[in-house]
Amino acid sequence: MIRLTDVKKSYRRAATGEYALRGVSLAIEEGELVVIIGTSGSGKTTVLNLVGGLDRDYEGQVEVMGHDLAKLSDRALSDLRNREIGFVFQHFSLLDHLTAVENVMLPARFAKGKPPVADPRARAIETLTRLGLGDKLDSRPTSLSGGQKQRVAIARALLFKPKLLLCDEPTGSLDSTTGEQIIQTFQRLNAEGYTVVIITHEARVSDAAERIIRLEDGQIVDDGRPA
Ligand SMILES: Nc1ncnc2c1ncn2[C@@H]1O[C@H](COP(=O)(O)OP(=O)(O)OP(=O)(O)O)[C@@H](O)[C@H]1O
Ligand SMILES: [Mg+2]
Repeated sequence: MIRLTDVKKSYRRAATGEYALRGVSLAIEEGELVVIIGTSGSGKTTVLNLVGGLDRDYEGQVEVMGHDLAKLSDRALSDLRNREIGFVFQHFSLLDHLTAVENVMLPARFAKGKPPVADPRARAIETLTRLGLGDKLDSRPTSLSGGQKQRVAIARALLFKPKLLLCDEPTGSLDSTTGEQIIQTFQRLNAEGYTVVIITHEARVSDAAERIIRLEDGQIVDDGRPA
């Protein structure tokens, strides 16, 4: 599903020799739940941004679902990003003046062409309910807890039934109990067939994964199962 081959990334074009990624190669198969760990600045977000097609300024090869991202047209890339990949971030990025259902439906409002689900509202309600928010459909984010907000954000990421979930510090704003519930949510989604990649620097999150990739200073120093 994901294949990186000798990927290098420099944020400074003028070859200072400083690389955020210094030759990263990895493969993630469909159906995996993978945690990427590493200290601040090790390159975790950079990897996720490349996989998610948010940044195409790199050396080496990034393939996602059989597509070489460097070779996709802008239109094809944005279709891949919008329809096949769901993004979840630390700070939820919900709009406060919209209800939970409206927040989850946002991608349909911005989708070019025909949305990939026939009835986005029904899909939003169904997904929120499945994530335990059936009684919060019309609540605004300001009246929700952190964990509830993150579940709204997850429901939004799932609106178009993507195959891949990319999550950058999804528990970073949550207390440990709430964070654990969010991780369990990802485990459940993974069991349902979603491929899930989670970035964290919290050790307890990595307990949830069968496979942990450790980045250090722009390189993979470990890729395997926890001891
Ligand atoms: N937009 C940018 N411009 C310049 N340098 C950047 C940019 N984004 C990241 N970097 C640099 O690239 C390196 C990797 O950053 P990255 O954001 O991938 O780290 P990270 O592992 O996600 O860290 P954190 O845990 O703090 O989020 C760092 O040295 C960082 O300073
Ligand atoms: Mg980061």
